[in-house]
Amino acid sequence: MYLGIDIGTSAVKTVLIDVTGTVLSDASVGLSIQHPHAGWAEQAPDDWWQAVVKAVRSACADQPPPSAIGLSGQMHGAVLLDKTHRAIRPAILWNDSRAEADCKSLSNTHPHLAQLAGVRAMPGLTAPKLLWLSREEPNNFKAISHLLSPKDYIGLRLHGACITDPSDAAATWWFDQAQRDWAPALQAATASDPGWFPPILGGTEQAGQLSQSAAEQLGLPRGIPVATGAGDAVAGAIALGAVRDGDGFVSLGTSGQLFVVTDRYAAAPDQGLHSFAHTLPGLWYQMAAMLNGARPMQWFADMTGAPIETLLAEAQDAPLPGTPICLPYLTGERTPHGDSKIRGAFIGLSNDTTRGQMMRAVIEAIAYSFADARAALEAARPMPCTLQAIGGGARSALLLQTMADVMGVTLNRSEDAAIGPAIGAAKLAAMCIGDLSVSDLHQPETRQEFRPDPEASARHESRLRRYRALYPALQSLPD
Ligand code: XUL
Repeated sequence: MYLGIDIGTSAVKTVLIDVTGTVLSDASVGLSIQHPHAGWAEQAPDDWWQAVVKAVRSACADQPPPSAIGLSGQMHGAVLLDKTHRAIRPAILWNDSRAEADCKSLSNTHPHLAQLAGVRAMPGLTAPKLLWLSREEPNNFKAISHLLSPKDYIGLRLHGACITDPSDAAATWWFDQAQRDWAPALQAATASDPGWFPPILGGTEQAGQLSQSAAEQLGLPRGIPVATGAGDAVAGAIALGAVRDGDGFVSLGTSGQLFVVTDRYAAAPDQGLHSFAHTLPGLWYQMAAMLNGARPMQWFADMTGAPIETLLAEAQDAPLPGTPICLPYLTGERTPHGDSKIRGAFIGLSNDTTRGQMMRAVIEAIAYSFADARAALEAARPMPCTLQAIGGGARSALLLQTMADVMGVTLNRSEDAAIGPAIGAAKLAAMCIGDLSVSDLHQPETRQEFRPDPEASARHESRLRRYRALYPALQSLPD
């Protein structure tokens, strides 16, 4: 049995799988996000650890101990540690926009660096946050001895070493994607000390063994091998067997991704695309990364106080005439706009607008953001005709059918689609001890297929045109 631990944004998820990939047990412990100022998003690394302890104890209760542990986690988060490995301040997360001005100045002074880093400087990425910190929190900046990504901080708590993998290193804006190593030019451009950066091991390599103190806290035997693991987008790819050129999927979590594997590095920063190293050797990927994913559905449920299932049923029956157009940009947008200031909207509300129509508009907005993702990706490479779907949002058949209609691709959903990255982490653990190899990674069996319906696709055309016209209109509104 193999234990996968995923440090998500809204929850830590753990899963135990066997060598066939069958899920034997799983658990989830919720996390909160702190927003001390508008546009900021922080979490305390110790809160992740406390949630890991609970979620591991819960998934492993009444089970034999796992033979290996693997990690996955939210990408682009800055975990800043002093020389005793203590967190200097809360981690600054992937959906934090405080470094907006720093990104503008990086793009002006070093426009060529996007080619090296695989993406243009955007506030959610790790490196620009350090520029912000050097200016706004100089004492914290001076105290930094180690810089880790979220899953690597949990690795440190498990085995005691600061280690990262290519996929999390790639997501920092400090990484030379083609050479697959830290990039001195990017470190220099962001006032970053090369001594902060951890060694990079492949996601299937052993980063360490479970220490005595971690073992006691988790209720597991000491010495269990811990695989380095991967950033959540890439751990999701491992779960889905997306390890061959052209394999692709959509991920619908707190964030959203359209992800396609490539067997060579090809940067396309102009469309807001991310071209990053995969955790497996010799592979990269191109990704459209959306800041809002399936989250607007949960936001609307929280706003209205109605359960998501009720809202989905109302949306399914809501008449299209009179349905407003929604923009899903609750926390700004990465691909394609690279705009952390833009916010969401409903356009076309009337006295007769129903809650079901508003939910329908929210679902369409998510699908339309993926249509934009498709357009960005297609400008750089051919688009696969079939994509798999993972993440909590993949539970909704209505969302997947709307996305298939709008994107013009078939979407496949498997049994455990909602917990993909934790399963990927567990598979990396199995690979670490030689129980699985890359050739064993395949697409999970499809339980449901969502094919584009030409009539529905045609109905969306004019609505998608209006949606696309709204971003520039809103962007140009005076503050
Ligand atoms: C990927 C991304 C998200 C975060 C949080 O670029 O921003 O996947 O890793 O899930």
